[in-house]
Amino acid sequence: MSDPALERELGRTARDARKTAPAPAPEPVNQELPPSGNDQDEFFDDPFDEPPYDWRPETFYAPGDPERGRVTFADVGGMEELKEEIRLKITYPLQFPDLYKAYGRKTGGGILIYGPPGCGKTLMLRAVAGEVPCNYLAVGLHEIFDPYFGSTERNLHQIFETARANAPCVLVFDDLDSLAQDRRQIRESQMRNLVNQFLHEMDGIRSENQRILVIGATNQPWALDPAFRRPGRFDQAIFVPPPDAPARAQIIELFAKDKPIADFDNAELIEATNGFSGADLKWVFDRAAELALSAAIHTGQPVPITLELLLAVAKAHSPSTQTWFEGMHTHAQQQEGPDSIFNDMRKFLNAPSNTKKER
Ligand SMILES: Nc1ncnc2c1ncn2[C@@H]1O[C@H](COP(=O)(O)OP(=O)(O)OP(=O)(O)O)[C@@H](O)[C@H]1O
Ligand SMILES: [Mg+2]
Repeated sequence: MSDPALERELGRTARDARKTAPAPAPEPVNQELPPSGNDQDEFFDDPFDEPPYDWRPETFYAPGDPERGRVTFADVGGMEELKEEIRLKITYPLQFPDLYKAYGRKTGGGILIYGPPGCGKTLMLRAVAGEVPCNYLAVGLHEIFDPYFGSTERNLHQIFETARANAPCVLVFDDLDSLAQDRRQIRESQMRNLVNQFLHEMDGIRSENQRILVIGATNQPWALDPAFRRPGRFDQAIFVPPPDAPARAQIIELFAKDKPIADFDNAELIEATNGFSGADLKWVFDRAAELALSAAIHTGQPVPITLELLLAVAKAHSPSTQTWFEGMHTHAQQQEGPDSIFNDMRKFLNAPSNTKKER
């Protein structure tokens, strides 16, 4: 197409314009790579194929490691059954090996901790590090998941290999439901492979030569693949409900320890916080401290945290575990069968002192 009037005005034709246009870039030439005799070798000599010899997950701590944390069982209120179970499986066998031999009992195994949010599962896993006299390895999800096909399973395998190579060792999985999902609910094959790998690694953790204790925690026990509950895997499941009165007394004492608290009788506060999780109790103390601090700033006088203040904050707060119990009720009803997980939760719900009205 051309416009003679416009060409006259510009003083040049469309043909002239084409002649002065820059030459188009040459087509890229398909260059041949220099021939290499050992293509196959290069492919298989991938430096990332095997982890370096001293590869360690981020949170692997030997006994005495200063970064291991100072939280111990003394910082966790209640959960006496769980504390004793962990001691039985890893602490006592190291203290009394001959006794364990005489009774034919082995070190390690699998414990599943489950219950509503904020009741101290993660705190308990951290306390295990401060408590047990052996190696400790906490698995971070970011260390496991990998977009490359097969790498996620291999990472999980490496974690277990590290634990086995450093036995006796406690291996801890927080939020277990993200790794041990029910395979019937999984669509992607990669995730299913991971669950299969996990089941495979759990097999034989009870054998004589492994001596590893695997502790998994979850607030969604119904989302786990039932195969994890088979004897020899997570065969011991311990329910961590909201703290009962003696446990609340311990937790209140722990939280009151480092704060300017007026002398008070705990009984009334223990009663007023029935159904509260440990996290709810912490919130009550934090909020009361905030209010007392604000009063101290405005009056210029030290203001202690009083029982009245704590009770007022507690009464205005409703337990955060309520929605969890409502959801759990539905799951427990759907789940038929003898699984002790659901039996324990049903038992807790049916106990008169734990009814919703009183919580
Ligand atoms: N039994 C307890 N003793 C002392 N403090 C507790 C206890 N339970 C909970 N807490 C307090 O509540 C906080 C939250 O608890 P934690 O993170 O352990 O809950 P969780 O059970 O892991 O919850 P989630 O299921 O949401 O992961 C703790 O850091 C601690 O301050
Ligand atoms: Mg947690």
